[in-house]
Amino acid sequence: MLMNKVETHLVTNPANRVFQRCVEAPILRRLGGRTPGARALEIGCGSGYGTKLIIDQFGAATVDAIDLDPAMVTRARRRLRRYRDQVHVMQGSADDLRAALGACDATYDAAFDLGVIHHVTNWRDAVAEVARVLRPGGRFYYLEVTAAALARPSYRRLLDHPAEDRFTAGQFLAALRCQGLEPAESWRTYVGSDYRVGVALRL
Ligand SMILES: C[S@@+](CC[C@H](N)C(=O)[O-])C[C@H]1O[C@@H](n2cnc3c(N)ncnc32)[C@H](O)[C@@H]1O
Repeated sequence: MLMNKVETHLVTNPANRVFQRCVEAPILRRLGGRTPGARALEIGCGSGYGTKLIIDQFGAATVDAIDLDPAMVTRARRRLRRYRDQVHVMQGSADDLRAALGACDATYDAAFDLGVIHHVTNWRDAVAEVARVLRPGGRFYYLEVTAAALARPSYRRLLDHPAEDRFTAGQFLAALRCQGLEPAESWRTYVGSDYRVGVALRL
């Protein structure tokens, strides 16, 4: 589901970029390590700032990035112009990476979900797609928003998300395991337990 205007503003403003660069990316790096030379995938790249961090902070060699929203794809392509030999941004949905990117099985060394899967109506299909395209031993870095957060009046009033079948942290981890993605023992939460941050290994 596309972001509404409020969320678009929150996600694309400079304060969020500072938070992503100084808080979220370092947490993910501590939990899962860097990915030097990796062929990486990012689902739901938004305006492309996370994609830039995957290259600059994680050391990925290339990133294939997709977003459902054509306006975000345009913004990401503009932001990532200087990485044009390394980054490929396409419009498409995380629940069908073959259609979006022509992605074959076991293609990527690392996959990143920076706050996206809770936006996907059939979110289990997105998890299955991440598992399908990661090679054995590949790492899935995720930062997800739980059903408890989405149920808060502030979220419901201000933001648009699918209303049905959202996940608790436990349900998300169970869906990862079900697809052969083994969550690492270390993980973090923040804003109470609204956000869950972690890494899972493709078996
Ligand atoms: C909260 S934003 C996060 C954007 C980016 N990852 C970031 O950290 O700035 C969620 C993004 O997911 C995208 N999105 C929503 N549903 C999607 C889907 N089914 N497939 C791919 N992207 C999707 C939205 O268009 C939006 O750009």
